[in-house]
Amino acid sequence: MKRDFLNISDLTKEEILEIIEYAIKLKKDKFLDQTLKGKSIGLVFMKPSTRTRLSFEVGVYQMGGQPIYIQGSSTQMSRGEDIKDTARVLSRYLDGLVIRTYAHKEVEELAEYSDFPVINALTDYLHPCQVLADLMTIYERFGKLEGLKVAYVGDGNNMANTWIIAGGLVGIHVSVATPKGYEPDSKAVAEGLELAKKTKAKIEITNSPEEAVKNADVIYTDVWVSMGQEGEKEKKEFFKDFTINKDLVSKANKNAIVMHCLPAHKGEEITEEIFEQFADVIFEEAENRLHAQKALMSLLFK
Ligand code: CP
Ligand code: NVA
Repeated sequence: MKRDFLNISDLTKEEILEIIEYAIKLKKDKFLDQTLKGKSIGLVFMKPSTRTRLSFEVGVYQMGGQPIYIQGSSTQMSRGEDIKDTARVLSRYLDGLVIRTYAHKEVEELAEYSDFPVINALTDYLHPCQVLADLMTIYERFGKLEGLKVAYVGDGNNMANTWIIAGGLVGIHVSVATPKGYEPDSKAVAEGLELAKKTKAKIEITNSPEEAVKNADVIYTDVWVSMGQEGEKEKKEFFKDFTINKDLVSKANKNAIVMHCLPAHKGEEITEEIFEQFADVIFEEAENRLHAQKALMSLLFK
C-alpha cells in the first residue's frame, strides 16, 4: 500500500520521532540512505520555491535517485489537463511526486489517482514538510517535543494551520495569535483539537500576541502575504501589532527561541534585530529541511 504525505497527521507521533532521530543520523552521513536508488522522483512546482525545491533535489540525489524538476507552468496541467489524468500518466513514468500548488484538494486528487507516494510541498492549506523540519530543529534544541509551547504570531495561513495540527499530534501546546478576521482555518483547528484529546496539548487561538507568547519556548512567524495573495497588500495594515520585536520576545520564556520558515520580510513580521539574533536557529531550520525530508522519503519509499 503506497503512503502519501499530504498532512503532518499522515504520520503518527511515533513515526515523527523516528523520522527526527533518523534525520539527525543522516545529517552526519549524507549518503547513508540509498532507498531511492534507481527511482525517479518528480518535483512539480506551481509556485516559486528556494528551500523546498533545492532540498528535495539534493535529497533525492543523495539517496541515489533521480530528481526531475517540473515547472508547473510548463506542463499541460497549466492548460487545464485533468489532475486525474495527469496522475495516471505520471504513474507510468515516475516512482514518486513532490508537489507545491494552490488548492489542497488538487494534491489530494493527485494522490488518489496515482500509484506512487505523493508529498505535499506546500498548498494554501498546509506546509507539512516545513513543520517536520521545525519539529526536528526544536527537538535538537530542547531534547524533547512534548510539553513545550509554540506561539505562532502572524497570519492564520498554511503554516499556522499545520502548526495547530502538529501540536495536537505530538503534544506541543500551540497558541496562535492573528489579527481579527485572519484566524487559521477552522478545519485545521478542529483536527488539532481532536488530536489534542490524546496528547493533552493545549490549542489556543487569540488576537493577542502578548497572550500567545506567555510561557512560550518557541515564537514562530511567517510572512503576512503568502504566495498567491500578492494582490492583497492592503492586508498588511491589520498586522501592525503582530511584529516579532524585542519587546514581544521579552514576554516569552527566558530561553525562548524565534523561528521563521523563510522567506522573511524583515520590518514586517519580524524586526531585523530579532531575525539576526536568532539567525543560527532560523538557518538550522532551513538546513533541516534536507535531512528531515530525506528521513521522510526513506519511510515512504521503503
Ligand atoms: N520555507 C519554504 O518552504 O521555502 P521555499 O518557499 O523557498 O521553498
Ligand atoms: N505562508 C507562506 C509560506 C512560505 C514558505 C506562503 O504560502 O507563501
